[in-house]
Amino acid sequence: MIQLDNKIANFTNNDIVKTPVQINCENVNIYYGDNHAVKDVNMPIHEKAITALIGPSGCGKSTFIRTINRMNDLIPIARCEGDITYRDINILSKKVDVVQLRKEIGMVFQQPNPFQKSINENIQLPLKFAGVRNRKKLKEITEQCLKEVGLWEEVKDRLDRSATGLSGGQQQRLCIARALALRPKVLLLDEPTSALDPVSTSKIEELLSQLKKDYTIVIVTHNMQQAARIADYTSFFYQGELVEFGLTKDLFTHPEKKSTADYISGRFG
Ligand SMILES: Nc1ncnc2c1ncn2[C@@H]1O[C@H](COP(=O)(O)OP(=O)(O)OP(=O)(O)O)[C@@H](O)[C@H]1O
Ligand SMILES: [Mg+2]
Repeated sequence: MIQLDNKIANFTNNDIVKTPVQINCENVNIYYGDNHAVKDVNMPIHEKAITALIGPSGCGKSTFIRTINRMNDLIPIARCEGDITYRDINILSKKVDVVQLRKEIGMVFQQPNPFQKSINENIQLPLKFAGVRNRKKLKEITEQCLKEVGLWEEVKDRLDRSATGLSGGQQQRLCIARALALRPKVLLLDEPTSALDPVSTSKIEELLSQLKKDYTIVIVTHNMQQAARIADYTSFFYQGELVEFGLTKDLFTHPEKKSTADYISGRFG
């Protein structure tokens, strides 16, 4: 067993209950023009569990996670091949209704990006766009989502004020609440805490650990303690390849590949 920082070795989920695979990625290749950014990745994403993607800068983590809800469609030179199977559909197929897909697979980014509108509108605009018109229903869902992210007590008296007046950590929880409003099945988070202070970070970690009861979560993180603390499964990416995937505890304590061992023990990256 390799030597790890005490904090890294402090796993919270030793008693993991294995859940079924919800999304299966097979032979996923992603290119930006000639740059082969993700190379033949095969990886399961388990339902109602947290899967962390780790690896050094530029190894393809964001490229890969963005592909799961077709965000790479927005990059004209990006091209994806392979199968990402979710509920018997191939997410990468041209036939997929991307708007519907993103309702089921929501995403949160590194920089909190609330709309420059009121807290209420941040939650309610996507709902209205999705066809929810009933005002009572809109209010109910708003309250419920803000409670789910632990923000309700902090903001219930200022729902009509601008979301930009919230702290960074509050804004990020609002963005998670906004993603939850559409009742997705899967939540993708690309370094959601890297712009936040330690207290806000720990609130979001606790929140994600709660949310996995109801949602499948995939998180990109540079923080190995974070992966060890909250993730059930971890994938180590290096130079576009998925080097190793496994239960977080196994990957951190008995990595099979030398490059995984080198990375998690801080020898590079
Ligand atoms: N929009 C883009 N257009 C062209 N190339 C891109 C684009 N985004 C990423 N790349 C390239 O794809 C490769 C993987 O980048 P990606 O952003 O996925 O890495 P990452 O693991 O998320 O890195 P970081 O930890 O720094 O966020 C890199 O070579 C990068 O330059
Ligand atoms: Mg990235």
